[in-house]
Amino acid sequence: MSEDSLQKPVPWMEGMVPTLNQRGFMSETMERFSMAFIDYASVCGHEALDMGCAYGVATREVLERGGSVLACDMEAGHVEILAREMPAEHRDRLRTAVGELPQADFPDESFGAILCSRVIHFLTGDEVRLAIGKMHSWLRPGGRLFLIADTPYTGFWFSTAPEYERRKASGDEWPGFIDNVAPLLSKEQVPDGMLPYLNPLDPDILRRECEAAGFTVEEAAFTGRGGEPDGNQHAGIIALKG
Ligand SMILES: C[S@@+](CC[C@H](N)C(=O)[O-])C[C@H]1O[C@@H](n2cnc3c(N)ncnc32)[C@H](O)[C@@H]1O
Repeated sequence: MSEDSLQKPVPWMEGMVPTLNQRGFMSETMERFSMAFIDYASVCGHEALDMGCAYGVATREVLERGGSVLACDMEAGHVEILAREMPAEHRDRLRTAVGELPQADFPDESFGAILCSRVIHFLTGDEVRLAIGKMHSWLRPGGRLFLIADTPYTGFWFSTAPEYERRKASGDEWPGFIDNVAPLLSKEQVPDGMLPYLNPLDPDILRRECEAAGFTVEEAAFTGRGGEPDGNQHAGIIALKG
């Protein structure tokens, strides 16, 4: 697709911009863990990584506040639109990359902060583990990881919440994992390009996996969508690489 023909889709509902690759929506309003990333990344003095940046809602805020960002997404079109829409005065502090977790690689100790917002629930359990381990390697000592994932209490997956609670109580390592999301979308098959499975997570899982990777967890909690702090649609964590 040429750069000229590549357009950012119109929001599906207010503040929710569809992705180009059937990986949900970018939210134009951010919850508190993403806001904490923006506060930290703007002043930490080192480049930050926005992994799964979509059209750059968080990247742009960090750049506007004087920070530097490497914005990375598996979908080249997202990164192209992000770069094209970025005001000229911020472009010298923006780098972009196309990369997919968990295969993506960056040099060790590259970043002062990493945001990975509403991405890792698209990974299997083994991939989540590998990706968090890689993010630990990519951070500089003293750097912080800000992870946000969808929980079983969000969107079309809400009806699976009782099953998640039952599996969690019985000790299932990945109690939110859904093998086949098609029936939850009232479809026989998922649309082309969409993953058939989903791995909604919770704060306990994020804590377990970050600690296993060597992080010190500063906070792990449920949170609502942007502007709805009391909800449980997302799980967030702030984790320190000591
Ligand atoms: C639900 S959107 C979230 C966008 C934004 N970070 C936010 O919080 O609103 C998921 C984004 O992550 C990207 N993504 C999904 N799986 C990915 C993966 N395995 N590696 C890299 N990016 C991925 C998608 O292309 C999409 O841009």
